[in-house]
Amino acid sequence: MALKITVIGTGYLGATHAAAMAELGFEVLGLDVVPEKIEMLKRGEVPMYEPGLEELLRKHVAGIEGSSGRLRFTMDWAEVGEFGDVHFVCVNTPQKHGEYACDMSYVDAAFESLAPHLHGPALVVGKSTVPVGSADRLAARLVELAPAGEDAELAWNPEFLREGFAVNDTLHPDRIVVGVRSERAEKLLREVYATPVTAGSPFVLTDFPTAELVKTSANSFLATKISFINAMAEVCEAADGDVVKLAEAIGHDERIGKKFLRAGIGFGGGCLPKDIRAFMARAGELGADQALTFLREIDSINMRQRGQMVELAREALGGGSFLGKRVAVLGAAFKPDSDDVRDSPALNVAGQIHLQGGQVTVYDPKGMANARRLFPTLAYADSAIEAVRGADVVLHLTEWREFRELDPAVLGEAVTTRLILDGRNALDPEVWRRAGWTYRAMGRPTA
Ligand code: UDX
Repeated sequence: MALKITVIGTGYLGATHAAAMAELGFEVLGLDVVPEKIEMLKRGEVPMYEPGLEELLRKHVAGIEGSSGRLRFTMDWAEVGEFGDVHFVCVNTPQKHGEYACDMSYVDAAFESLAPHLHGPALVVGKSTVPVGSADRLAARLVELAPAGEDAELAWNPEFLREGFAVNDTLHPDRIVVGVRSERAEKLLREVYATPVTAGSPFVLTDFPTAELVKTSANSFLATKISFINAMAEVCEAADGDVVKLAEAIGHDERIGKKFLRAGIGFGGGCLPKDIRAFMARAGELGADQALTFLREIDSINMRQRGQMVELAREALGGGSFLGKRVAVLGAAFKPDSDDVRDSPALNVAGQIHLQGGQVTVYDPKGMANARRLFPTLAYADSAIEAVRGADVVLHLTEWREFRELDPAVLGEAVTTRLILDGRNALDPEVWRRAGWTYRAMGRPTA
């Protein structure tokens, strides 16, 4: 009989994982502690913008016409405990307030709530990004709390999905990493992931600490790549070099690779910034803090980019104050194809200029509602053209396709001054300059 799967936590990670498990043919029960989320999901609606996810949900959520009916949602822990052979824990681990360390309270609460309902053999699989050593602690707690005792086992299976590509990354992962302590756990997870493994996804078997570390080290590496190219942008800026050409040229070296070398206002979102900080905090607790001091520099290069964008805007407007200047900001989400504004560099820059007296108007294709909630004092427009109307300068801060497809001639009619600053190095300078715009970006020649 096909395995029964539960998914605890239905955010970006959990909602996608639940839908993907149903797509792979399993019976799936999703749980969340937020009633509004569960109500939406039951109707086949996704609480956030993620391309393709709503379609996949509607294909499987029970009660929706024509669906497979394999996916259901609940708020009842007893039902979850009773139902599942395999339980995936997908709750978030945000940064603690006022500290670098990550907040484990949602993970801990999930284990405390689930374990007492495990009366028979069950595999609990942690997917959340956690400090190394957590799995060891949680495995012991599980045995302690579960009526099933030793039959309630833990495995760790980090998730590498990217927002904007979550569905594809979950159905066709570039690797599956599982930390296990028994053959039974390995066998169950091989069964869960049989389809992607047959299709070619590598299956990497490890112990608990390595599985936890794979995730934090992968994100640290990605953050390092971005801050590296941003550091090169600073040097190019000082030396009149071109960081885009430089990235292209070093990227031809296969050992370096082309990806994740786009210089700009840096990384944000719910993962990279908090993950590198939590990693440093955890290394400190383990007495290995020296090994990760470089991440401090990665973080500070990244945060510096936001300030430099503000300074570039100030300089472009003639130096001095932003008072009375109209600044259009294209982009609020931390990256395109997402409505996520958590630690968004774009909103951070918009906010800084606003706080210095600039009249900032923001437009984002999907991130408006979230941006308004986080930054209600900024002005918002319903389209790019409305945002730039009367602007003294236009800042391109999230590289949506919609912005690349804008016609600079049309936009030029709406602004006061044809001045564009590309914070993502994603627009074609020639196209804008031909239409009479002054185009500037960090680490690129001025003309
Ligand atoms: C990241 C990891 O990629 C993913 O594997 C992990 O599971 C979660 O964290 P995500 O947060 O969705 O995923 O975003 P990602 O695509 O990695 O981008 C992170 C940030 O880096 C964005 O703000 C993006 O704009 C920025 N970035 C990315 C750059 O500034 N330059 C680049 O070249 C690439």
